[in-house]
Amino acid sequence: MLKHTRVSDPELYQLVEAELTRQERNIEMIASESTAPLDVMELTGSVFTNKTLEGYPGGRYQAGSEIADQVERLACERAKALFGAEHANIQSYSGSTANYTVFASILEVGDKILSMDLDQGGHLTHGSPANWTSKMYNHVFYGCNKETEQIDYDALEETAHREKPKLIICGASSYPRLIDYERIGKIAADVGAYSMCDMAHVAGLVAAKVIPSPFPYMDFVSSSTTKTFCSARSGMVFCKEKYAKILDRGTFPGCLGSIQLNTMAAKCWSFKYAATQEFHDTMVQVVKNSQHLAKALQERGFRVVSGGSDNHLNVVDLRGKGVTGKQMQIALDKAGITVNKQMIPYDPQKPWITSGMRIGTTSITQRGLREPEIDVIADIIDKVTNAPEDEANIAACRKQAMDLISGFPLYPAGSFDD
Ligand SMILES: Cc1ncc(COP(=O)(O)O)c(C=O)c1O
Repeated sequence: MLKHTRVSDPELYQLVEAELTRQERNIEMIASESTAPLDVMELTGSVFTNKTLEGYPGGRYQAGSEIADQVERLACERAKALFGAEHANIQSYSGSTANYTVFASILEVGDKILSMDLDQGGHLTHGSPANWTSKMYNHVFYGCNKETEQIDYDALEETAHREKPKLIICGASSYPRLIDYERIGKIAADVGAYSMCDMAHVAGLVAAKVIPSPFPYMDFVSSSTTKTFCSARSGMVFCKEKYAKILDRGTFPGCLGSIQLNTMAAKCWSFKYAATQEFHDTMVQVVKNSQHLAKALQERGFRVVSGGSDNHLNVVDLRGKGVTGKQMQIALDKAGITVNKQMIPYDPQKPWITSGMRIGTTSITQRGLREPEIDVIADIIDKVTNAPEDEANIAACRKQAMDLISGFPLYPAGSFDD
């Protein structure tokens, strides 16, 4: 692995090796993570890194772009076919920048955005006061119904009619249920707003057609390409054909600089791979594992927010167990299960403590874990929750977690042999 760095910078090389070992030995359940295929790793490290390019195929600002043009055209064609999209712009560097390119394309300073509250499962880039977008645009938010802990569509509709936003965003970071894209698209159309879905978390599930697609109902769809899409750390944006020119101009020169041809090539590979039966089967199992985890945790006395999961993640309310999200994030990490603390809807705790944790099933499903292993994971979570400060308990749980995960290699044996 990294035969050049191993010689030129042993100190850094050791950190890469340590991270590989950490990933191999831990049960990785951060909902925004996945394991990049080796092909994606190869392509992100390819000679495409060397090429500087601005503009679009056929209209670049730099010479020597003919091959790059073929890569970008191929990637866009594959992306459109995969998602059934009218137009694709895959120049974004990440999910965050994907969102910013849409804002740069269609909004003026002071315009109003209606999006899901961060505390209820939304994302920072949708207008959190902590994000720069809150300095540029006016924000109004929708959230979840207190009883169902699912999006309160009636309240969303009322707010949209009252506030008349220029853009309505759906899509979330921590929402375990399906989203009614048709209804949100209709509300946007009724109030004369653009509609946008940030499908960053569920893009792989959408690509594999295991959950409903936002594409028929949204003017714009943005996304990360990591998370369930399992590709390079990058982004992508789609829109209806009538907005293609606005989006392209807003992206470059409006928002971004030179493209990253190496990650674009990796995304191109993934747009092909995501159409395979193998990827489809993995995504089907991601959802089955998530639903099985909800049931297994409920059987052990945990309260699962909204009562279950339709996608790749669960949000667990820990209040009934007398522990906080922060406590569990630390204790589970020591026990070899990586999760993150998470605000639950109407959480009485501060964001750095939280009453909940978010648990995703993408990475473990890629490694081959199925329902029987999910039961073992639920057992370990239960044991850790019962005595999070007890070192002997944590050590026993750690052993159980390592015994389990060691049977499911992160990458096939020999993948990194020189
Ligand atoms: C809904 C949503 N949008 C955007 C992002 C940002 O993506 P990235 O980390 O690729 O910038 C995230 C990341 O967690 C997300 O959950």
